Amino acid sequence: MYSAALVVPRGRGRLLRYLVGCVAALLFVQCFLSLLSARRALPTSFFQFDSSAAVSPRLVLGLTNTTARPPSTGGGGGPRDPLLVKVMVDPGSKAPAPPAAAVTVNGTAANGTAALVNVTASSQRPPLPTATTPAGTSSPADGRQRCPPVPLKLVGPLAVPSSAPSWDQMEAEEPFRRLTDGGRYRPAECVSRHRVAIIVPYRDREEHLRMFLYHMHPVLQRQQLDYGIFIVEQDGSDMFNRASLLNAGAMEAIKQYDFQCFVFHDVDLLMEDDRNLYTCPQQPRHMSVAVDSMQYKLAYPQLFGGVSAMTRSQFELVNGFSNQYWGWGGEDDDMYNRLTYHKLHIARYPANIARYKMVKHKHGKVNPKRFDLLRRGKKRFTTDGLSSLKYQVKDIVLDKLYTRLLISLGRR
Ligand code: BGC
Ligand code: MN
Repeated sequence: MYSAALVVPRGRGRLLRYLVGCVAALLFVQCFLSLLSARRALPTSFFQFDSSAAVSPRLVLGLTNTTARPPSTGGGGGPRDPLLVKVMVDPGSKAPAPPAAAVTVNGTAANGTAALVNVTASSQRPPLPTATTPAGTSSPADGRQRCPPVPLKLVGPLAVPSSAPSWDQMEAEEPFRRLTDGGRYRPAECVSRHRVAIIVPYRDREEHLRMFLYHMHPVLQRQQLDYGIFIVEQDGSDMFNRASLLNAGAMEAIKQYDFQCFVFHDVDLLMEDDRNLYTCPQQPRHMSVAVDSMQYKLAYPQLFGGVSAMTRSQFELVNGFSNQYWGWGGEDDDMYNRLTYHKLHIARYPANIARYKMVKHKHGKVNPKRFDLLRRGKKRFTTDGLSSLKYQVKDIVLDKLYTRLLISLGRR
């Protein structure tokens, strides 16, 4: 083909055909070469690091799946110019215990009225800072470096426990001794890039709670997060309202500390791979993509239940969760609708990483009104949510392994 094209033809029509042929041949060669180089550039490591993010560089995981269009408002941009970073595994070294820190608990209910609060802390500590690193700086005043964008001690696939030790045994073990009251931790060796509140709606699942905490704390420490675990327990025997508990938990968490990221987490889901980072990227992230009880398949593309993460500003932008979902189901779908209405889209890690085992249990009473509520949800986006949230904090306990918030939602 090339040798034929090299013979320059005579006549206008022929010359034109000759030129078109040349351009097509060049395009073909260019396509072929770029395909070849794209293949060669496929990451050898799972993690990529997006160096273009301004303040907190964003981790991009190979083949991250998103369900919808690119963002236009409130969400930032897609991955640009990713720079590959290798994950080093160093299971031998142990982080020193973090400096002691104090907890001041603000016992005011979200509606502004004084709540019935009983603050129980087992030891005295100095005040928590409002933030670990001033925004936009690369290292803090004490000279420590920021933690690496990809934590160095991740191990990948995890064994999931089928039981947990007693509370006393657990508290005596190494990873839990590093915690400060309220189930708080931040790395001592570097300044964390992420201030994360894990919010867990809860009622009457003590065994699951022990397993959850036993499994999660070591992982979150390896991920070098500045984090706290908030167990939000619904008082009384009314129908369970997961969404209102998540709203209340998030509001109480930010009264205690300047968290920038929320991970909303069912107590019965145990992660199977610690590369599933509990951080908030630029878009809300659905974390429990593949769950054993669902044959490790995403039930439907809009699913946002189980475990999900979003920044405080995204959560506030969408007015939090709806408070209208009493009983099982729908509240996470409503949140999906809120997020997409605000032009955010759902990010997901690949299913081989975002894996969970579900501790066997029966789920609560299904809410038969959930489809109706969902259908008419959009009308309530601005009036139903954080803006209408009413609850009473009955108790706050700063346990060694978690902050317990006992919440009364009032009668429906
Ligand atoms: C419910 C969701 C739930 C999902 C997966 C849906 O029908 O509305 O709340 O997360 O099923 O179980
Ligand atoms: Mn469940």
